[in-house]
Order: sequence, then structure tokens, then C-alpha cells
Amino acid sequence: MTTNHTWLRPTRPGQQPRLEYGADYNPEQWPRETWDEDIRAMRTAGVTVVSLAIFSWARLEPVEGTYDFGWLDEIMDLLHAGGISVDLATATASPPPWLTTKHPEILPVDREGRTIWPGGRQQWRPTSPIFREHALRLVRVMAERYGNHPALTAWHVSNELGCHNVYDFSDDAAAAFRVWLQQRYSDLGALNAAWGTSFWSQHYSDWAQILPPRLAATHPNPTQQLDFKRFSSEALRVYLRAERDLLHELTPGVPVTTNFMIMGETKAMDYAAWAADVDFVSNDHYRLPGAQDLDELSFSANLTSGVAGGKPWFLMEHSTSAVNWQPINVAKKPGELARDALTHVAHGADAVCYFQWRQSRAGAEKYHSGMMPHAGADSVLFRDVTALGTTLRELAPISGTGRTPSRAAIVFDWDSWWASEQDSHPSDRLRYKQEALDWYTAFLDLGVRADVLPSHADLSGYDLVVAPILHVVPQPLKQRLEAYVDGGGHLVTTYFSGIVDENDHVYLGGYPGALRDLLGIRIEEFEPLLDGDTAPLDNGTTGTLWTDRIDVTGDGVQVLARYKDGGAAITRRTVGTGSAAYVSTRLAADGLAPVLGDLLERAGVTSELPAELRGRVELAVRGEYWFLVNRTAEPVELTGLDGEFLHGSADRLEPRSVTVLRKA
Ligand code: GAL
Repeated sequence: MTTNHTWLRPTRPGQQPRLEYGADYNPEQWPRETWDEDIRAMRTAGVTVVSLAIFSWARLEPVEGTYDFGWLDEIMDLLHAGGISVDLATATASPPPWLTTKHPEILPVDREGRTIWPGGRQQWRPTSPIFREHALRLVRVMAERYGNHPALTAWHVSNELGCHNVYDFSDDAAAAFRVWLQQRYSDLGALNAAWGTSFWSQHYSDWAQILPPRLAATHPNPTQQLDFKRFSSEALRVYLRAERDLLHELTPGVPVTTNFMIMGETKAMDYAAWAADVDFVSNDHYRLPGAQDLDELSFSANLTSGVAGGKPWFLMEHSTSAVNWQPINVAKKPGELARDALTHVAHGADAVCYFQWRQSRAGAEKYHSGMMPHAGADSVLFRDVTALGTTLRELAPISGTGRTPSRAAIVFDWDSWWASEQDSHPSDRLRYKQEALDWYTAFLDLGVRADVLPSHADLSGYDLVVAPILHVVPQPLKQRLEAYVDGGGHLVTTYFSGIVDENDHVYLGGYPGALRDLLGIRIEEFEPLLDGDTAPLDNGTTGTLWTDRIDVTGDGVQVLARYKDGGAAITRRTVGTGSAAYVSTRLAADGLAPVLGDLLERAGVTSELPAELRGRVELAVRGEYWFLVNRTAEPVELTGLDGEFLHGSADRLEPRSVTVLRKA
């Protein structure tokens, strides 16, 4: 699957496809003399692209309507002369003090009614008409000034939209929420039905009575909460589209992106939907320490590829070493800088960029690593940065090649993430992303590739699909899953799946509701476990968090594992040549791997890796290129692999290292 992408506008005649390399660049934080040194060092490191002006509004428009573009003109010219292209920010990420002073009504309000004051960043309401008017005026001026600049390769809308301001409970948000609800439900009766307002005297008789779910005496209406999450993600999308449309109008042909945050527990933006609004997908990723941190990096990169439809994408930010915003910020170990970057490339990144080029001297991010550390160019870190630049040049032929679909997939669904973790549920311990990640770790432990896909993706090409905690199952999704299994697909799902429709209303007649017939089981009551309680299974694994008392009701259902008390724990129903399996408890990754291994075997899905590498090495495939990532702290001897080795050792995969080969 090779695609020649045209995501960046070429900034040089005859520019060849390459893996882009660079960072956010904030020259305005440095004296003018530093700029020449920066560009020289960027060239040494192999930097091809920088993102400029992300937080520059206050410098570009120091007083309302008065602009100071001199410094930006100069650095754009210098970068172009140095052969470095610019992903230019629209500079709207953080409003300047004059704007928040003149219009404090653009400041967000939290659920308790507290104003989010200036002093940090991103202090603006996504729905503020005043903010939008001022921001779009700046976008217009930027586009008119730089649209034809030869260094300009793409537009970078705002920055990490929603990072700090996604949930705003202000009056602007309330007004926009009502408009969004009117579009969704048309009439108030439909909203009352969807929100179940017969409960607790919540019936609305006028749209004006509806509010965001502000601080309430007890659990706010669950559908109101879910709709507010949907609305908040959509409100930022609407804002993104406003900037994008203006840029498209004024600078046709210059691609527009914004940096997503597919990482960790960042869950408020439904990036599966957002991907349609950008000309190419960009993502930021930072590792969080923990036993699964590398698996999580791979999962996020994989899902980024999934939302990008399998096409190459742009890694807009990650870190060369420590960040500054965790309680304890650990430096990367030798090898991790390249390993992390190449793991993103393995999953389809055609650009490797960092926050940021030069580590700041002042401000809240002065202890956040950069490509040029406080220590300067004579440092291990800068030598590692330069070595990675060389590696990326060597790997240039990979550029433009999408990921090669695997035979198995994990479905990731933002609605289910949001709804399953709401309050007033059987257990507040359930963690959607963690469950999905544990399945991903189980795939990695078995050495089987699995694509992480948004729930709207076409599943038909996959032999086995795991849909963990697929809690919200509207009728069209139910029908797609049934068709998938009828077509010979093997579906695996878990506890708390199929329970509610898109309005968060429970499907009646027994759980798992929408999936009851497909799975051939019926559950009358959930049996979540108290902290510390466990549920041993007869296959040697142990469940935590959740159990179900399952009645087998359908034809062709086999019980694959039972609880020690005799009840069914894992079931599998055969449907023609397909099947539908149910795992009713939370198995840790070491318990999931054998269960998944059995289900994969029944589905005829095998590992592509030689047996001795499975589990120890992660495999990712882009066309003819195989990426092998060492998942262990030990060296791994590479055997049974044929091809031309492009990067790394052909014989031995050191800890924290990656080998890339072109398959024979
Ligand atoms: C991102 C942000 C950057 C920088 C970075 C630090 O959230 O886009 O501007 O703050 O985190 O890790």
C-alpha cells in the first residue's frame, strides 16, 4: 500500500520526498544573535521543518490592530535561506493580555463558575464570538502576509485545541450548547425523551432553561453530560474549521493541520471525527512513566494511523528527553530518543518533530528538554539529535508509504470511552483506555500485529476484531458488527459492552443489550468486584473489577472459561464461519494473552515473527519495510529474518533500539 502524499507544500524546486525532522521553534524567546547559531545547528542536526509563531500573538499584535511582523519576516527569510521549511502557526493559541483585559468575557469558566484567568495559556472560550472575531482577524493578516512566502509548507491552526479549555461552562458555552442541541434534536420533546427528563423533575419547557452540566447537587443528567462532551469536542472542531476555511480561501494549495493529542488519558476530543477537518493528521505524544509506557506510545501512534485512515501522518511534538509537567520528570535513557521517534515512524509518521528546538531559559517550560539543551551543542543529547537526523535521511525511501493493514484490529470508540466512565455506574473503577491498552499489550506479547481503528472504520478486511468495553452501540453499529460476523469475521468484546444506545438509554431484556443475540448470552445483573477482590477462572487466569452472571441463550455458544464457582466467564458463539466472543471480566495483560492467543488460533491468525522474537520484539510494517522494536531491557538476537537491513543491527537488537529492514 504505497501512497505518494502531498501533505506539505514543497518549498524547494525538485524537492524529494523525505522524512521531515524538526521542532517548534520560538526565536522570539532569544536574542537576534542566537538565530544564526540556531539555523547553523539545525542544519547540522538535519532539521527540515520548524513550527513557528505558535504562542506569538502578543508579540505579533502587541496592541489591538497594530502589528509587528519584522522579526517573523526576518526569521522566515533566514529559515528559507537555510533550507528549512516552516509549518506556520496561525498564532491564535493564546490571546494577548490586551484582549483578555478589554474582553474578560472571552475567559473560560469552570463547572463551579470560576473564571480561568490569564497567566498561563489557552485562556479562551471555544464558543466566544469575540475571541473568534479577533483570532480570525489575525489569521487573515497572517495568511495575507505569509501565504506566498517560499518557506511556508503548511498552516498549523492554533495549538493542541482543547488542551486546557475544552470544557467551558460559561454563558457563551450555554448558548452554543443550546444551538447544538436544537440541531441535534430539532424539537424539545425529542430532547426531553433523549435525556430521560421524566427522571428527577428535569423536564424542559423552553430551550432557554438548558444549561451545561454545571456543579450540581448530585449526579447531573447522564445524557446531558454525554451530549456536553460531544458538544465540547464539536465546538472546537467548528472553531478549527473556521480557521481552516479562511486559510483555504486565502491561500489555496497550502495544506492545513492542527496538532492532535492522541496520548494517554487525553480523551475530550473525538479525533476520529476531527481527522476529516485537516488536510493531514498531526499528533503530539508524550510518554507517561509506567510498565506499559512503550506499549502506550505504540498504541497511540497506531491509533493516530487509524484516524489518518492508514495514511502517513505528522508527529508534531514529542520530547527529546524529560518533560516539565509530570510530578517527577525523568530523563530518557540512552537509546530512547531514537527508539521513541522510530516507533512513531514505524506506525506511519513521516515527520518527527519535537517540542521544542531550543530549551527555554525562562518560563514554565525551562526544564522541558529540547533539541538544543541548556548544555549546548556539546552534549550527548545534541549528538543523539544529530544522529537521529542522519537516520531519518537514510530512511527517506519509506516516506509516503502507508501502514500495511494487519489481520487483527482493536476498535477504539470515543463515545464509549466518554459514556462508560461517567458517574453513577456499577463501578467507577472502569478505565476504557486501560482496557484497550491491555488488549494491545496482549497482542504485542503474542507477537501479532493489530491495527487500532476508530469505530467508524471498515472492519471487513480483518479476521479478528477486539472491541473492548464497546458500551455505546447505536443500531447502525450493531448492524455493522452483525454483518461483520455474518461475513466470517471474529468479534471479541468485553464486559459493559452493548449496554446503551446513543442516548445512553439501556437496551432492555437483559445485557449485553445490543449484542445479546449476536453473542448468544444474557446477563440479568452486573457483578462488579470490590477493590482487592478477585475472580479466579478455571483457565488459570484471574479477573478483577467486573464479573457477570452469564446465561447461555444462543445456539452454538461454547463456554471457553468458567469462574471457579461454575458460572461462564468467557464465551464464544460460532456464526457460520465467523464468531462472537465475550470476556466478562477484566483480565490483566498476562491473563489476556493466553485468552487472546486461543481466540486468534481459532480465527486462524498467526504471528508474522519468528517464534523466538514474539513478545520480545514489536513488529510494525509499512509496505516492504519491517520495523522491529525491542520491548525488553535485554538484547534480542535477531534470527529468521531475510532482507536488506536499513537501520540498526541485523543480528542483535540492543535494548531500547529499533532495526528497520526491507523485506526480501
Ligand atoms: C504540548 C504543547 C507544547 C508544550 C508541550 C510540552 O502540550 O503543545 O506547547 O507545552 O506540550 O510537553
